[in-house]
Order: sequence, then C-alpha cells, then structure tokens
Amino acid sequence: MKIAVLGYGVVGSGVVELMHKNPHTINQKAGTDIEIKYILDIKDFDDSPYKNLFVKDFNIILNDPEIEVVVEVIGGLNPAYRFVKESLLAGKSVVTSNKELVAVYGDKLLQIAKDKNKNFLFEASVGGGIPIIRPINQCLAANEIESISGILNGTTNYILTKMIKDGYTFEDALKNAQQLGYAEANPAADIEGIDSCRKISILASLAYGEHVDPQKVHTEGITGIKLEDTRYADKAGYAVKLLGIISKNDDNTLYIMVAPFLVDKTIPLAGVEDVYNAILVQGDAVGISLFYGRGAGKLPTASAVVADVIDCAKHVNARKYLYWKSSDGSFIADYKKMPFKRYVSLISDSDISVSDIKSVFPNADIYTDFDKMVFISDELNEYDFDERINALEKNTGASVCSVIRVFNLNQENGEKKWD
Ligand code: HSE
Repeated sequence: MKIAVLGYGVVGSGVVELMHKNPHTINQKAGTDIEIKYILDIKDFDDSPYKNLFVKDFNIILNDPEIEVVVEVIGGLNPAYRFVKESLLAGKSVVTSNKELVAVYGDKLLQIAKDKNKNFLFEASVGGGIPIIRPINQCLAANEIESISGILNGTTNYILTKMIKDGYTFEDALKNAQQLGYAEANPAADIEGIDSCRKISILASLAYGEHVDPQKVHTEGITGIKLEDTRYADKAGYAVKLLGIISKNDDNTLYIMVAPFLVDKTIPLAGVEDVYNAILVQGDAVGISLFYGRGAGKLPTASAVVADVIDCAKHVNARKYLYWKSSDGSFIADYKKMPFKRYVSLISDSDISVSDIKSVFPNADIYTDFDKMVFISDELNEYDFDERINALEKNTGASVCSVIRVFNLNQENGEKKWD
C-alpha cells in the first residue's frame, strides 16, 4: 500500500522515521507492505536520505491512483483543509494529527469520508501518543459518558512543571518546550489554552455525537497563574493544572471549558508532570478510566499516526465507524452556571479577619499562615461567587489578587465518585 505524507515538520519527520524504524512490525500488523511514495513539503531537504520522495505539488499526490492513504501532518487550516477534503473526495483515506482541522471541520470531513466509504482517522489529534479516540469511540461505546477531564496540552504542563519544580523562568521553559518539538508553531495557542480547547472539543464531539465548535467553548490559559499561587496551592494540598473538562447534565446539555484548576493531590491528574497528558473518562458503567502518556513530541505523536495508517491498510474497503453530525451547539450550557469551589488570594492594606471571609463564604477553608490571605470558597456558580466576592471587597477594602477554580468530579448523592 502506497501512502503520501503531507508536511515534514516535527510530526511528519517522526512518521517517516518510525515507518523506517519498525517496518517489519508495521507491515506484519497491517497485513501488507506500506511504502511512503511521496513527502510533500515546500522546503528543500537535499541532505535527507529520503530526498527522492519530496514533491512540492499536491496534485502529484492527488492524481496518483496508487496513493491510497494521505497522512496530513502540516497543521493549521490552510492548506490542510483543502488537501484533506480533496484527498477524501478523490477516494483516498486520510490520517491526520491536526487538532485544529478536526475541531473546526471534523463534522464536514467525517461526512465526506462516510459518503466515500473511506476512513478519516485522527488518533494523534488528542493526547499525542495516548490512545483516547478509539477508547472513547469503541471500547467505552456502551457507556453514557458523564464527564471527561484532562490535561491535554504537553507544552503548558511542561512549562508549569519546569517553573514550579525546577525554578525555570516562563521564557526559558517555553524555549525548551519549543526545542523539544512540543509547542505549536505559534505557542500562544498552547499558552492561551486554544490547543486544549480544540482537543476537548474533539472529545466532546466524539463522546456525544454532535459537532462542538471550539469557538463556543470558554477558554482560559495559564498566563494569569502566579508562581506564589502554585506555592500556596501546594501547601494546601493541590497542584495547579490546565484542564479541559466536559460534564454532562441531566437535561443532556454539556458544560465544556478549558481553564487552570487547583487539583487535589489525591486525584491522579495532580501528579501528571512534564510533557505528559492524562485524561479521566467517567462512564456510567465503567466508572472512571484514566489514560496517561506523552501528549506531544515527535515519536509519541508519530506512534498514533502510524497506528492509524496501519488501521487504514487493514480496512481498505471497510470504514471504521467514526462519525459525528453537524450541530448548532445549542446543547452547550452556560459555563458560568457550573458550580466550583474557588481558590482566592487577597491583597489587603488593613487586616481582614477570618470572620469577614466567613460572613460571605461560611464554608470557606481559610489559610492564615501564608504571606497573603488565602481561602478556598464554598462551592458556587460563577454568578453567585462574583456577587459574594464583590461584597467581600466592598465590606473589607481588600482586593482580589487571584481566583482559580478547584477541580471536582461529578457528584453523585453528594459523594465524589473518585473516593
Ligand atoms: N502543542 C501541542 C502540545 C502538541 O503541547 O500538547 C501536541 O498536540
């Protein structure tokens, strides 16, 4: 089976490297010999051992009937969307690691793949090398998915770990993440939470069968996190993590959001460090399953891409059932109605007392032995919380320095299912 690889960046070069590293295993599992016939890239790679495979014109690939699978690892929407769409329309299966493409156009591309009876596979688009698309689509298919919560971005988790544990500056940690091939071409997408937003949108679309437009998902990044907050959180028994979360409501609406959270150290997400990602999936039959591994990087991502290529080879004339329909997103609920406890740090010129805080947040856990007044609030939705925190500021003259939500899993009869 002949394939073409579009893009020879971090992931593309990893795919080519892995195909040449493990050909025996790959071909045996595919049941056929898989050969890379073309690599498309606008740059020249005259010193590459694969220099004879490089082409610059996509039409050579599109018009070659021998090419059965196109691997799109360019990233971004343009020209990736056009190349993928034209490949599917030409009757070729497509494998991609491009989360932006899947998050934005997944419904349309899956529909074309369905119409053409071809495969459009994207295991690498979420969690890098972690198996998560197939588990949600196949292994957990009998469950009602109640919640999904995950560390979905390797770069930000790496940056947070290096800053908190190893004393790196933000800039140095980011530079390292870029050198290691973890960061997006524009790392703002990592830092601002946009990459995590695309990934949680893909997981929501997959788990609930309707397209979730990433623009409808409330997204916050890590730029507002202060080192002192991570230290106070640590002393209080929490780690600070950028999470994508989905929680299903009884009326079948979904809360979906991306934001930094304090994660109780008894929950395994708290111990996930460096480039690792982890995703907790909560199903009504299975309970909680945890998926953990390297979320970014050349060979971990290539591992998932090549597995999809093998799957395409095994299913040349049979579609893998992977599909979600288009949607107006009306099932996405107002994230501000989602109740959370919140970590709050306060700046105050005058002394603010424990009873001042208790008068507004009666169930708060208050930490008086830090440099700042810090407390974990009652569990409230954002409207109620804002009202009470405004009252506290007004009553005491204190001003809020930081607010970070505290992660919780779905509650059942008041009990955390994790316990
Ligand atoms: N920039 C992404 C990350 C790459 O850091 O997770 C993998 O999707």
